[in-house]
Amino acid sequence: MPFQNTLSYARELDNNDPLKKYRDKFYFPQLNGKNVIYFTGNSLGLQPKNSQEFVDEVMEDWKNLGVEGHFHAKKPWWDYHERLAKPLAKIIGAKPEEVSVMNTLTVNLHLLMVSFYSPTKERYKIICEEKAFPSDQYMLQSQVRFHGFDPKDTIVEVSKRPGEHHWNTEDIVEKINETGDQLALVLLGGVNYYNGQVFDMKTITSAGKSVGANVGWDLAHAAGNIELKLHDWGCDFAAWCSYKYMNSGPGNASGIFIHERHLDQEKITRFEGWWGTKKETRFLMKQKFEPIATADAWQLSNPPVLALAPYLASLTLFEEVGMDALIAKRNKIVSYLEFILHEIDSEVDSSFEIITPAERGCQLSVLLHGEGRSLFDYLMANGVITDWREPNVIRLAPAPFYCSFEDMYNFGQILRTGILTGAGNRETR
Ligand SMILES: Cc1ncc(COP(=O)(O)O)c(C=O)c1O
Repeated sequence: MPFQNTLSYARELDNNDPLKKYRDKFYFPQLNGKNVIYFTGNSLGLQPKNSQEFVDEVMEDWKNLGVEGHFHAKKPWWDYHERLAKPLAKIIGAKPEEVSVMNTLTVNLHLLMVSFYSPTKERYKIICEEKAFPSDQYMLQSQVRFHGFDPKDTIVEVSKRPGEHHWNTEDIVEKINETGDQLALVLLGGVNYYNGQVFDMKTITSAGKSVGANVGWDLAHAAGNIELKLHDWGCDFAAWCSYKYMNSGPGNASGIFIHERHLDQEKITRFEGWWGTKKETRFLMKQKFEPIATADAWQLSNPPVLALAPYLASLTLFEEVGMDALIAKRNKIVSYLEFILHEIDSEVDSSFEIITPAERGCQLSVLLHGEGRSLFDYLMANGVITDWREPNVIRLAPAPFYCSFEDMYNFGQILRTGILTGAGNRETR
């Protein structure tokens, strides 16, 4: 049945939504006593209600046990992080031993560069997408300079074609082949933060490997959003943050993936710390580092248990629901949002352009031709939490765990009123 832009139809979709009970498992910010319409799960996911219980458990154990909690807490702290590896492995398509949880995303990308970017005079170039997330750009530039190379000559950016808003896989593969045996590393975002494009990670990884380069992925916008098969695709490494689609809490820990062919290798270059050495001998305080045979070998410090507690709480929800069900709902709710945008577009004297290509996950990026930042301000003032990216793009990410079809309908109504009342001010025509 084709979609309809009516409240009753949106409610019917909600009634038939197999994930409908999960909305109630999250806290929503309130405006005038009502839940906001939350489109920024791609930036900071909402708080799962069970996270308090997981944090309280650690606080209680700390209160009652002090240091003994390391071994005698309900979930002992010394290996607390290991509980996250299994559910994460399912989410990213990996084996549990290929996953670890530690630090934050940019820190982990730097640490992974230590292992997977060892430039020589002949093979030193890095391919990334143009206008990659700024933190990735700074990370790459500083790594390149650290190795004594010039970022201008070393970092090869793949551009979009003139007039297009997305990258073409053929252009990326062509650039990889052209760079050939000068190419040391391909590092892209699995889902671009700006236009929401899902990159063809399988094809790009295979192209990078075929010219002898390492291939890594920043999965900040991909983990918990799209289907990933990092192991089967043969990616060398990846890292992600957990506070977006994985609802772990602000600034929370990052995860890493390291393909099993790099595990248990004596020779790999790696910055090391005591939590990466074998558990059996760690507390003998020996001088020699004996790497754990899993991605945990990359851990430096003992785990930040208070931070991992809400992350683990959130992962219990992912375990219950599974990525297939989340992706099925995501596809439907994003299509419904797209339909609503087209409907409103046809009703008002304005025009929106969805710049997200068909290869998409949860996010639609909308270019507001003829509308300005004040339309965004109007949306925010009326309970629609979205974000604004210069020059005039709003990003809408209806996270399938907690957004409803009724939210999409209500958003359309607020958007139309905002435009018809001139809230957008036609600033950026
Ligand atoms: C694509 C991407 N990469 C890197 C980062 C930086 O993350 P962090 O501040 O956790 O290092 C972000 C943050 O939003 C991001 O979206």
